[in-house]
Amino acid sequence: MRAASRLVALLSAAVALTTGVVAVSTVTRTGRYLYNADGSRFYIKGVAYQPQGSVTASSSNPFGEPDSFTDPLADSTGCTRDLPFLQQLGVNVIRAYSVDSTLNHDSCMSALSGAGIYTIIDLSLPVNGSIDRASPAWSTNLLDQYINTIDAFSKYDNVLAYNVGNEVITAANATNAAAFIKAAARDTKAYLASKNSPALVGYAAIDADDDWLVPLANYLSCDPSGGNSGATSLDLFGLNNYEWCGNSQPSVYNDKNGAFAGYNAAAYFSEYGNVACPPRLWTEAAALFSSPMTDIWSGGVAFSYFPAQSAAGQFGMVTINSDNTVSVSDDFNNLKTQYGQISPPNSPSASGTTTFPACPTQNSTWLATTTLPPTPNDAVCACLQGTFACEFSPPTSNTSAIVGPLLDTACGLLGQSGGNCDAIAADGSTGTYGPLSFCDPSTKLSYVIDQYYEATNRNAQSCSFGGNATVQQSAPSNSAAVAAAQSSCVASGGSATFVPSAPSTTAGSGGSSQTSGASGSGGNSGGQNNGALGGFGEHAMVGVIVSALFSVFGGLLVFA
Ligand SMILES: *[C@@H]1O[C@H](CO)[C@@H](O)[C@H](O)[C@H]1NC(C)=O
Ligand SMILES: *[C@@H]1O[C@H](CO)[C@@H](O)[C@H](O)[C@H]1NC(C)=O
Ligand SMILES: *[C@@H]1O[C@H](CO)[C@@H](O)[C@H](O)[C@H]1NC(C)=O
Ligand SMILES: *[C@@H]1O[C@H](CO)[C@@H](O)[C@H](O)[C@H]1NC(C)=O
Ligand SMILES: *[C@@H]1O[C@H](CO)[C@@H](O)[C@H](O)[C@H]1NC(C)=O
Repeated sequence: MRAASRLVALLSAAVALTTGVVAVSTVTRTGRYLYNADGSRFYIKGVAYQPQGSVTASSSNPFGEPDSFTDPLADSTGCTRDLPFLQQLGVNVIRAYSVDSTLNHDSCMSALSGAGIYTIIDLSLPVNGSIDRASPAWSTNLLDQYINTIDAFSKYDNVLAYNVGNEVITAANATNAAAFIKAAARDTKAYLASKNSPALVGYAAIDADDDWLVPLANYLSCDPSGGNSGATSLDLFGLNNYEWCGNSQPSVYNDKNGAFAGYNAAAYFSEYGNVACPPRLWTEAAALFSSPMTDIWSGGVAFSYFPAQSAAGQFGMVTINSDNTVSVSDDFNNLKTQYGQISPPNSPSASGTTTFPACPTQNSTWLATTTLPPTPNDAVCACLQGTFACEFSPPTSNTSAIVGPLLDTACGLLGQSGGNCDAIAADGSTGTYGPLSFCDPSTKLSYVIDQYYEATNRNAQSCSFGGNATVQQSAPSNSAAVAAAQSSCVASGGSATFVPSAPSTTAGSGGSSQTSGASGSGGNSGGQNNGALGGFGEHAMVGVIVSALFSVFGGLLVFA
């Protein structure tokens, strides 16, 4: 080392000592592996770090998904309390499922970075903040939420990856939703590139029948254009895997190893740690972090640091006591022992190439088209706001529970009046996307309500919906003028795919005027009442519950 650079090194070491800040190096993906800046292989030695939100069990929430969340990375007291325990576990990654972009994360993020711990941040949120698996769409409200979260975290050096979804698809008959996940990956990737962010783009999948799990993985990392472009491809595919139970043998992974043997992107277990055969020994870490699995996988995230109760059992490793101290369980100690013993190989080297193969073809277990939905365009949806002669104007700002039923009702009425909901419909199987299909659910609902109002010749009684709709005097004076104004809004949108920008915070200009910010369910198509009920989005516990059953019954294909 020459004198000048030695001086720089000494100075930066001194700065690091005085400020307590030790930067972590950027992790990059080459081919199917992750690498540190020095070229050595990077493995995700992780633990899930998310307190469980409250769960309101109901028939519309069969997976026990939460309807609230606490942002663990905005709780500086909690992070300070937990950091020594994360360090005892020896983890280098935590996964956080739900964060609030309006809060400050400086304290937790810098403490974690100082301890050499990266984060995997899920961009989706409970209830209305996720791609709705029952009625999937990739819409302005979700894109804006994703961008706001990226903006809140982009200043930190220790964001390894952003997940664009968790377990959105849970059955072969819903794989058409993958088109929306891939579009989310495309737009998230483009936005990160526009900010020069090195963070990776990931997705976490429920474990399932290889008939659709394997095409899902391949689809999310393929290039539909056939030009070896990574523009729509994930960097990091997560599999929530609970096959190992108690003291299993590495052969339990034979099927998944075979299924992912030729995969082109980095893959890891985005959740693991089955509670169905207690005690958890975590001996799967020895298998996962050694050859031959290290040829295929880049580690995993043990589920879960915090208590996480599900129908399958209790997944937590620690208890937070009322005096804010931490008690650890045998689970914690067993994982600590296993993580302390792993020594994954530092190979292959970073000299590989990154390729983006052709996409899987559609068949009866793989429904997604390679014609992706457009980039959600805030300006188009904001422009529409002034065009509705009858508009959704809910008496409450919390509209996530009413938008879905109202869309069903309004599309049904519109269908009976000779109209249809095609303009707001999105079909990830045929690749047919209505020109307003990317708008937030409230804007879609206003569109349908207005269409019905126009179809009944602006009959005042058509503009009520039980007090959820009101006449707008400022709108164009007749239905032809409304249609012309709406066409002009759509035409102003320009090309279908573009690099998104941060949403405007000015009211009315971010695709979010007074009717926005609500969700719960996307639109239904063709004017049929297709049961697009207020759906809940994806969440971790789905995988825990369903996958645990999957593995306990050893290969019983509950998702087929
Ligand atoms: C559909 O194609 C995938 C490969 O993309 C294959 O794994 C799956 O078995 C096929 N499904 C059927 C029913 O043939
Ligand atoms: C979800 O609903 C809340 C209000 O209940 C709203 O503030 C928020 O913006 C919505 N999120 C999305 C992504 O639509
Ligand atoms: C929104 O309304 C739903 C259903 O009425 C309710 O369960 C939920 O707690 C409400 N959310 C908020 C943030 O008030
Ligand atoms: C609005 O629509 C919801 C859902 O259909 C309905 O329950 C409610 O009664 C309507 N009216 C008002 C004033 O909320
Ligand atoms: C889709 O498949 C799941 C499980 O395989 C099943 O429970 C559900 O009824 C199916 N849905 C439809 C619409 O066929």
